[in-house]
Amino acid sequence: MNKSDFPIFNNNPDLVYLDNSATTQKPQVVIDSIVDFYQNYNSNVHRGIHKLAETATIEFENARGNIAQFVGAKPEEIIFTSGTTESMNILAQILFEHFKDSKGKKTILLSEMEHHSNTLPWMMLAGNLGWNIEYVKLTEEYELNLESLYDAIKKNDVSILSLTHMSNVLGTINNLDAIFSKVKSISPDIFCIGDGAQYVPHHKIDLSNSKSIDFYAFSGHKMMGPTGIGVLYGKKNLLEKLNPSKVGGGMISTVKRNSFTTAELPEKFEAGTPNIAGAIGLSKAVDYLKRQDTLEIEKHMSELTRFTLDELRNIKELTLYGPPVFEKRGPVFSFSIEGIHPHDIAQILDQDNIAIRAGHHCCQILHRETLKIPASARASLYIYNDIENVKRLSNSIKKLITQFKR
Ligand code: ALA
Repeated sequence: MNKSDFPIFNNNPDLVYLDNSATTQKPQVVIDSIVDFYQNYNSNVHRGIHKLAETATIEFENARGNIAQFVGAKPEEIIFTSGTTESMNILAQILFEHFKDSKGKKTILLSEMEHHSNTLPWMMLAGNLGWNIEYVKLTEEYELNLESLYDAIKKNDVSILSLTHMSNVLGTINNLDAIFSKVKSISPDIFCIGDGAQYVPHHKIDLSNSKSIDFYAFSGHKMMGPTGIGVLYGKKNLLEKLNPSKVGGGMISTVKRNSFTTAELPEKFEAGTPNIAGAIGLSKAVDYLKRQDTLEIEKHMSELTRFTLDELRNIKELTLYGPPVFEKRGPVFSFSIEGIHPHDIAQILDQDNIAIRAGHHCCQILHRETLKIPASARASLYIYNDIENVKRLSNSIKKLITQFKR
């Protein structure tokens, strides 16, 4: 990995970018691939016979294949969406179609650390079906309280369980494979869904080897791809059984006056013109990640996580949220400083050219009910960050604490 692969850092040499949970920077190869599509073979996919349309279709489907292979899935299990939020919305609508004639009041189980994109679609689904929503509580070390999760499965008629693989606020990594396997051993028919928005950019995942993850969502822009492209993964046997919620061009086989039949997977779930350039750009980001030395990147990120934890813990005025043990977390560090609003922290750090995020990070339930604060400041790291970046962060925080004390 070479920082000079990213034009934003060449154009802003002093920038310390620590807002990677919101979105990551893009290497030149990703930017070039988007320009190349629009300049050289822009055309719609799956429709035209002409050469440009054929090239666009081949590149688009190659992108799907490449992304599928990267997460250990079959190409037909990869549905392109605009990102994790749309993936979860589409899935909730698909499951509405599936459950709308079922009887009884069932439960959707989430956790207190979920992002709004893994909360609101389920709230809407629960509202539409007249079901309940339950939230698994966290332990004092900001991990899922697994005992209460399995209890909830035993006590309630749970039909859907949807959990983040890595929290965008706490950095907590949830072992979804193990959790979902145990859940299915208690109640095999539960749909087990993973929100991989924060996990996939950092960790290898092998969805075909996971017997228990039924559906999984992630976004391209958090792993160096463009915005507006993401994935909804579904196990082939499930996607084959379920009906689409979005209809229109590209997803049909035959259309009559009052009826239609659907195309094969994955087109069945991809009505309308897709984000072709986005899929091609995401595939280039995947290629970029694949070219990295995985062991070296893992070592770099775990050293950086451990260093940042130590550095921030040493600032006594700062309260850090998330698991205290670095092995249990990703490089996401949310914190508060008594007497200083998170927005002020972010604004003052910005004057030192350090970009962090402040707010509730789309996790109001977590902030209000679990952390009992309205907002936090958050530094989130990616592969191009280094120890020097973290030192700049901690020095600026120490400086602002001194300024506020005066
Ligand atoms: N989900 C993104 C974040 O946590 C936007 O910042």
